[in-house]
Amino acid sequence: MADARVGAADAALAGAGLGFRYASGGGVTGVDLEVRAGEVVGLLGPNGSGKSTLVRLLSGVLAPVAGRVRLLGDDLAALPRAEIARRLAVVPQEPRFDLPFGVLETVLLGRHPHLAGVAFESERDLALARAALERCGALHLAERAIDELSAGERQRVVFARALAQEAPVLLLDEPASFLDLRYQVELFDRTRELADGGRAVLAVLHDLNLAAEYCDRVILLAGGRVEAAGATAATLTYANLTRAYGTEVYVDLNDLTGALVVTPLSARARARLAAERSERP
Ligand SMILES: Nc1ncnc2c1ncn2[C@@H]1O[C@H](COP(=O)(O)OP(=O)(O)OP(=O)(O)O)[C@@H](O)[C@H]1O
Ligand SMILES: [Mg+2]
Repeated sequence: MADARVGAADAALAGAGLGFRYASGGGVTGVDLEVRAGEVVGLLGPNGSGKSTLVRLLSGVLAPVAGRVRLLGDDLAALPRAEIARRLAVVPQEPRFDLPFGVLETVLLGRHPHLAGVAFESERDLALARAALERCGALHLAERAIDELSAGERQRVVFARALAQEAPVLLLDEPASFLDLRYQVELFDRTRELADGGRAVLAVLHDLNLAAEYCDRVILLAGGRVEAAGATAATLTYANLTRAYGTEVYVDLNDLTGALVVTPLSARARARLAAERSERP
């Protein structure tokens, strides 16, 4: 851990009264959130509700106009960039690759915050990068160029880079949006293991069923504000979801796993339900 002063009860990452506004008018207002070591917290909400903006504020890419962020007990605004990177690994929603890097090189970038000065990567860094790729089912891609990969392959490599960074706090912005079923489960299994091992994870998700299975708590944003927050099952309710997303959902329990199942209702399903209701005496 980067900071031994932070006990399990303290928030590893906390935002208080966070506000930010783009010239477009979009942004976030008055957002309070905390993520503790050992937790996977889901950040949910419709398109444009401010999830990625919050990720940028919590990682120091954007400076809030109101409120502040604490990372492992320290004010984020006062931490040097390299120290932030030792404490916090980010999987952005749309990672940019300005240079035609190789896959292994890309993952090794995750080791850079740990290198002293202009030092080159060591054998240990290389071993960590390869191990991270292996954990993401992407070791066979190590010698490929990052810009030649499929969207899902690239997404696994970006997650591997975050793993190689060995930061105690992880911020994941839709890390599985391009992954097939198997890799979605594997990515969130890895994420759960990281949290169980003492990391703090905040993950933006659109898949509410994955959120229901993997998140200890969720924060539901709408219109740049927290619409609801709390324990996952208590927060992913019909009322909260229908209000936040503006569409009808059906919420049930999975008999097998005990997790909530959220099914969006198509126009056809809604019409069928309405017809059934009107036929009832
Ligand atoms: N660079 C920008 N300049 C101007 N407005 C922006 C910028 N980035 C985001 N916005 C606006 O701010 C609001 C929040 O955007 P944000 O990207 O945080 O949403 P999001 O919840 O991550 O959505 P999505 O689910 O689509 O990723 C939106 O209304 C968006 O149009
Ligand atoms: Mg986003």
